[in-house]
Amino acid sequence: MNILVTGGAGFIGSHTVVALAEAGFTPIIMDDFSNSKRSVLEGLEHILGKKVRFYDQDCNDMAAMRQILRDDEIGGVIHFAAFKAVGESMSEPLRYYQNNVGSLLVLLEAMEHSGVSNLIFSSSCTVYGNPDHLPVTEMTPVQPAMSVYGNTKQIGEEILRDLVAADKYLKVIALRYFNPIGAHVSARIGELPLGVPNNLVPFITQTAAGLREQLTVFGNDYATSDGTCVRDYIHVMDLAEAHVSALQHIINTESSVYDVYNVGTGQGNSVLELIHTFEAVTGKPLHYSVGPRRSGDVPAVYSDVTKMTSQLGWTAKRNLREALEDAWRWQMQITD
Ligand code: UFG
Repeated sequence: MNILVTGGAGFIGSHTVVALAEAGFTPIIMDDFSNSKRSVLEGLEHILGKKVRFYDQDCNDMAAMRQILRDDEIGGVIHFAAFKAVGESMSEPLRYYQNNVGSLLVLLEAMEHSGVSNLIFSSSCTVYGNPDHLPVTEMTPVQPAMSVYGNTKQIGEEILRDLVAADKYLKVIALRYFNPIGAHVSARIGELPLGVPNNLVPFITQTAAGLREQLTVFGNDYATSDGTCVRDYIHVMDLAEAHVSALQHIINTESSVYDVYNVGTGQGNSVLELIHTFEAVTGKPLHYSVGPRRSGDVPAVYSDVTKMTSQLGWTAKRNLREALEDAWRWQMQITD
């Protein structure tokens, strides 16, 4: 079955392209390369031993979307394409709503027009805000969004829920990602942040590689075991494989469905635990110092993945050490 992967040149998208191909699907990428590089396509070709078909197109382009769905006989869509920088979303809300919400609406209209019924949507644990109880299950209440980015994910989930309620052929799973890290074990694809990374692991690997002077730990006075924030760091290939499980599930489901699943490891790790595990992996000390808290950070969030495991038969297979090893191997061969 041909699967359209919007944002398939991005970090999670490119790894999912690999997982789809390994599971026997034919992934087809639609990406405007606004936050990714074309070299990803070479990495994919190397890993898969063949070229992946791709369209250099904006997902807001309705004519292009309809044409791809029809001409490529698409059987399902995984919709990654979105902007994801929390800070930027607060200063450029219109751009975020247009791209993240706008492209979802375009996709849904094109899917209806073409009779494509299977959709996996990228959501985020950000919908849980600062939860009262840990770990978070899918029953944990969704909190008012703390950023425009987070709001685009909540709005996306609501749009999908409402459409499925009204439309008896659409089958949708929204996956709420925790913190994806790592890279493909081949080090041919990985995370390629443009400019200064916002996220912890690329900042760590760039510091270890000498590209950044030092890492700042954003606060060590939280009510956690060592005072630093706790997150659920999941290997990006495990997350990629979760998409395949979700897709297989909806393909095998006859009736219309909307459901949400947490995708994490079920384990929380602090910033200092990440740093120390990374030091153990590389065998060299990392330059870091403790700075003030970062505005908007929640002290701790990690997943309960019982639903994903029991209903979709998926579980994370790779541990934190492997994820950091893969992230470091990837960092060491980045040349551009
Ligand atoms: N951190 C540092 N120093 C850094 C970067 C991060 O100490 O230089 C800390 C953060 O304070 C946080 C942890 O590392 O405690 C993880 O930070 P990330 O930025 O890597 O990840 P977040 O959990 O903040 O972000 C994730 C997703 C976002 C999503 C957000 C919602 O990457 O897409 O969760 O909370 F919006």
